[in-house]
Amino acid sequence: MKEVEEAPGPLIGFVASGSGATTCTILLVEGLEDKVKEETFSMIRDRDRWLLGVIRAGTGIDDNLQSGRYSPGIAYAKRGHAPSSARRSFHYTFSVIGQVKDDGLEENRQVIRPGSSAYLVQDRNPFSAFKHGDYLWAGNYWECEDWQIPFHKDFIPYHIGVYGTTGCGKSFLTRFLLIPLLKQAGCGVLVLDWEGRDYARYMPKNTVLVSQVKMDIDTVVTYICSRANHFGYYGSQRENNRIRQALEYLLRTYENGEESWRMKSEFELGDWLESEVKQHLEMSEGKRADYLQMYKARVAAGLQRIENKHWATILGKMEPKDLVERAKSDGLLILDMAAVGSDEKLAFFKSLGGHIRERLEEGEDLDLALIIDEGPQYAPWQPRGIQIDTTDLIQDLCALGRKHRLSITIIAQGMAGDIGINAAIRRNLNTHFIGQIHPLDMEEASNWLNPYHIPVERLLRMKPGQFYFIGKMNPSPTPLLISFKVK
Ligand SMILES: Nc1ncnc2c1ncn2[C@@H]1O[C@H](COP(=O)(O)OP(=O)(O)O)[C@@H](O)[C@H]1O
Ligand SMILES: [Mg+2]
Repeated sequence: MKEVEEAPGPLIGFVASGSGATTCTILLVEGLEDKVKEETFSMIRDRDRWLLGVIRAGTGIDDNLQSGRYSPGIAYAKRGHAPSSARRSFHYTFSVIGQVKDDGLEENRQVIRPGSSAYLVQDRNPFSAFKHGDYLWAGNYWECEDWQIPFHKDFIPYHIGVYGTTGCGKSFLTRFLLIPLLKQAGCGVLVLDWEGRDYARYMPKNTVLVSQVKMDIDTVVTYICSRANHFGYYGSQRENNRIRQALEYLLRTYENGEESWRMKSEFELGDWLESEVKQHLEMSEGKRADYLQMYKARVAAGLQRIENKHWATILGKMEPKDLVERAKSDGLLILDMAAVGSDEKLAFFKSLGGHIRERLEEGEDLDLALIIDEGPQYAPWQPRGIQIDTTDLIQDLCALGRKHRLSITIIAQGMAGDIGINAAIRRNLNTHFIGQIHPLDMEEASNWLNPYHIPVERLLRMKPGQFYFIGKMNPSPTPLLISFKVK
């Protein structure tokens, strides 16, 4: 935007007393209440400067109509007559984005002069005040599809959080805004699709099934045991019993440098394992015929529960490095994890994340973006079991990623507490997209948004596909209400 003299739209009001450098109150010109809405852009002409900002937190005041005490206006209202509007006014808070200069926007440090005029931004794109070449552009401002939003490219590896209740549009935001943005920034994007519902089915060409990926032995053992209903064991015996030990021993047996079971097909594997496990038990339990009988029955019953398609799941061949390479060469790769249980999904993530961490530690610049939907499954408020490892891993990836161009995006239904993601991880996310929140998150959300005069109640009523964009990637110091087109 050139340093212009002419106003960007109609005059809407004047700056009230009590103004500051980052905010002020605007008193509306009579009759313009209908033109002005919260979250519309406005510009203030202060001395010879133009200040760009967003209108927030409106209030209507009428001294004649104060509840809690009697007044002539109330007497009129009681009798069904319209009270006088002589002492009525409308106020809005103006949250400053910056001073408009020829070469872009500059931080405003001067107190805005009370009495300055405020105008609606109507006839031009307010984002043209941001210098075009400095940013990536994506999505749009909530009320105008033509106004694209600027994103700081340099802060992409400072990691991203997306929060909001189910159905508020998190996965859509990721598909239609974040993935294109990350690709534009030169990253290969790797999406972990927990249920295979949000990404994989829309982009089958870019999808790899978890069953195509090589499982490590620990995961294979967990997977087989849980599919085999733990061979009838309960409680702590599930993790530690003779059958599980025999199974693990066999799975770790090598033949010509390769694990022998990996050379079987999904049609042979079940029968082969059954006879091998039974043989192994015979050798080690030979003297106790009664126990042996029971073990053998449990092995047979357990393994019979496993179908060919389940055996196929553990016979995948792709290594973590193949996934990373495909994400980079194709621009996008989705890992559909629907076929396995939670523990195996997390185990997959451990081997994938471990591989990425090794490369970062070796100093490689990755140019990779990892998108983790259902974040609390990997790094909840209070991690348990394998989640302790995945939480630590994500934390390491965040810390190393900043230096080596790995960007992590974590998507969660909640921000804090038991519906949110782990606090140690949250501190590593520096850009946030906040959609409609759960009432349990009111406190956390108000910490983020109250300083910018965004009433937290508004966050309980956001439409699907609307998000407040806040943090390092946002060149505007005040959060912006953004949306995106669904293609
Ligand atoms: N920008 C948008 N415009 C219109 N509708 C949207 C938009 N974003 C999301 N939606 C609607 O919201 C629904 C839920 O979105 P989704 O991303 O699956 O939510 P979440 O991942 O948060 O559970 C979508 O099916 C779609 O109908
Ligand atoms: Mg979703």
